[in-house]
Order: sequence, then C-alpha cells, then structure tokens
Amino acid sequence: MGILDDRFAQLTEHRQQHSIRVAAVMEELAEIHHLPQKEARLAAMGHDLAREMSRDALKQEAIRLGLDLLPIELAEPLLLHGPVAAMWLKQANMGSEPVWEAIYYHTTAGPNLSPLAKALFIADGIEPGRTFELRARLEKIAKEQSLDDAYVQLLKETIRYLESRGLKPHPLMIQAVTSYGKRG
Ligand SMILES: [Fe+2]
Ligand SMILES: [Fe+2]
Repeated sequence: MGILDDRFAQLTEHRQQHSIRVAAVMEELAEIHHLPQKEARLAAMGHDLAREMSRDALKQEAIRLGLDLLPIELAEPLLLHGPVAAMWLKQANMGSEPVWEAIYYHTTAGPNLSPLAKALFIADGIEPGRTFELRARLEKIAKEQSLDDAYVQLLKETIRYLESRGLKPHPLMIQAVTSYGKRG
C-alpha cells in the first residue's frame, strides 16, 4: 500500500465517500475537457487526505514539510490540508506536477492554475453531495460550457459565501478571481 491507500483508509467513511464522488465528477470533466484520466482520478482521491488532521497537527506537519505559512493559514490551519496532502504525494513521487498543483490549490484556488487544478476545484465544489443553490447550475456550466466559466463563477460564489459568514477569503482566491478581470 502506498501513502494514498494508507491515508485514505484512515479517513472517515463520510470523507472517503466525498472523495469518491469528487473522483467521479473529475472523470467526467476529464472526458469532456480532454484531461488525463489517471491524473484526474489521483488528484481527486488524494485531495482531502490531510483534511481530518487537527489544526495543530496540520500546522506542525506543514512546518515539517517546509511550507511557508501565511498569516491567514496560521489563523486557520485547515487551509493547509491541500498543501500538506500535495507534499505527501510529491515526496512519495506519486503522480505528477499537475496532480500536486491541483491538490495544493484545491481549497484556495489561485491565479493561472492548470486545467486539471481548475477541474479539481470545481469537482470538489459541485460533487452531488454538496447542497448549495447554484450547484446544479455550476455543474451544467462545467460540463456544457467551459472549465473557466465554472471556475470563475464558483470562485465568486465561494467568496460571497465566506464573506456572508464574516470570513476572509484567502489572498490566492482573490488573485484567482481578479485574474479573470471583467470577463467573469
Ligand atoms: Fe479539501
Ligand atoms: Fe474535498
């Protein structure tokens, strides 16, 4: 068993099922948008491997892995679960740069991400277990229009949601949406 299987087996059933649904969406998006199936699946199955660690453990692990922590990540270490999981796979030499990038940025998004990384951000947000109002609409956009259209709309929706709860979006998320200028 590699790190993916080991860590996956330790996740709760709830989280495993979420990851499996994200993988199913990723496979569909990969088919439609001509992304590599194997990488799409690996990114999905690996994206939340560190999601159930405690905040303290995540912070310690991120420091051990040599990640630079921003103030917002020190204040909310759960933001580190993508970077930590990405580093685990990278250090185990599982997957490839686009897979690690996708996992790294799946919570915050970011400017100039690869199509695979945009697809993972979208798949994580629109998998059928999610219940927010725009979910079905965003799914349709992702499947029938473009990854970019779905990505920018999901970014805006996520920022709107965070702000409605008095939370600050990660600077990378602001940069991601700003990078689309007036197009979105
Ligand atoms: Fe996540
Ligand atoms: Fe997730």
